[in-house]
Amino acid sequence: MRSLINHPAIKSVLATETDIQAQVQRVANQLTEKFDGKKKRPVFIAVLKGGVIFATDLLRKMSVDVDFDFIDVKSYSGDSSTGQVKVVHDVSMDLTDRDVVIVDEIIDSGRTMQWLENYFELKGAASVTTVALADKKSARVVPFEVDYFGLEVPDKFLVGYGMDYNNFFRNLPVIAIVDFDKIDLIK
Ligand code: IMP
Ligand code: MG
Repeated sequence: MRSLINHPAIKSVLATETDIQAQVQRVANQLTEKFDGKKKRPVFIAVLKGGVIFATDLLRKMSVDVDFDFIDVKSYSGDSSTGQVKVVHDVSMDLTDRDVVIVDEIIDSGRTMQWLENYFELKGAASVTTVALADKKSARVVPFEVDYFGLEVPDKFLVGYGMDYNNFFRNLPVIAIVDFDKIDLIK
């Protein structure tokens, strides 16, 4: 069978589907434990688009009931800008006094998560917890530490499991490193 994994622009696989699901289960268990027995259901907010793939796997591995919502943000980290974030699509729920859990697939500079944490605090959340599948710890530009993460990954450009290169490879089932010498083969 043809597989996206065999695409020439995929250099190497960093985490297989089995590796990923083991980490998703581990994080799901930690979050189940955290929210088990709480009066109010937590609100899980997936960061579009990349965080959605991780969030849907994560939620189905948890054994407490949750609310689910989405946010889409754009970050500008160009030369003059200092990494400003803008909301493109906002959450639909009232977050006042709710336990919010932000779910993204990867943390790089840390700007997006740091900004979102502050944004949901300003919306009146009772607590804000941050979760990412992959953590590029060595790429931080701001001093941000995620509460729960699956895998620590190197400071390389990654694709798959929600991560894209110009909207390509988001649905690759593994996490892989891109071969930039062969990037022209992506169409
Ligand atoms: P940060 O604000 O620099 O932490 O960036 C976080 C966002 O950048 C993530 O939600 C991803 O959408 C994107 N991102 C960061 N690193 C990668 C990568 O290696 N491949 C694809 N997208 C990435
Ligand atoms: Mg993103």
